[in-house]
Amino acid sequence: MNLILLGPPGAGKGTQAKRLEEKYGIAQISTGDMLRAEVKSGSAIGQEAKAIMESGGLVPDAIITAMLALRIEKPDCAQGFILDGFPRTVPQAEALDVMLREKGRELDHVIELKVDSAALVERIAGRFTCAACGTGYHDTFKPTKAAGVCDVCGGTEFTRRADDKAETVAARLAAYDAQTAPLLPYYATQGKLRSVDGMAEMDAVTAELEAVLGQP
Ligand code: AP5
Repeated sequence: MNLILLGPPGAGKGTQAKRLEEKYGIAQISTGDMLRAEVKSGSAIGQEAKAIMESGGLVPDAIITAMLALRIEKPDCAQGFILDGFPRTVPQAEALDVMLREKGRELDHVIELKVDSAALVERIAGRFTCAACGTGYHDTFKPTKAAGVCDVCGGTEFTRRADDKAETVAARLAAYDAQTAPLLPYYATQGKLRSVDGMAEMDAVTAELEAVLGQP
């Protein structure tokens, strides 16, 4: 099963993709995570992407599309994948259509997480991650059980993303409206778009997604 989760920054794409990855045995592909790994490694792509990401803009289509083409060839994508953060522009969506057609694969679902933009800044500003194991938390919506200690690995160091500052979030939301929201009519025209309520509690969002996808 190959699916896309669409939605603005903070809609819950990463949160839900991780849950679906486990349940359906398909790979989560987060282009944001891939780019952050490139930045951390200091690669040529990372050096080009760093300033763009920190300003809240989008990395050029050619870079992202080439990364994605290599990624979906990896063995963990054999049973399918969940695209989290890709495509983000109509040219990326068109490139994905061509890529999948050439490989004899197709998109099974495109699901929009519908959210109120007023809620997004709070969601993003409260987000933090365990530095040791990468588990994601939120100051209000998903705190650690014991203050300052990761529930999963017991780590005590946490990080916040460089692009989660309020001024950058505003630029990211503007980029979504201008460049990514046009994907909604793009996939609606293909008859593939479904929407779920991303404002519900996390477990309720997961249940709604599973109802759309069916049982594995
Ligand atoms: P990326 O990493 O993809 O970030 P994003 O799309 O801005 O999405 P986020 O990770 O911020 O949000 P999310 O929807 O995953 O929400 P989450 O689950 O974390 O991209 C970063 C940058 O990389 C881009 O700005 C761009 O520069 C570049 N980039 C990446 N892909 C690109 C591409 N294809 N083309 C060009 N450039 C690209 O949830 C947020 C918080 O809310 C969490 O704390 C969570 O706990 C909480 N939460 C989640 N669900 C709920 C709920 N239902 N109720 C309450 N709280 C919730």
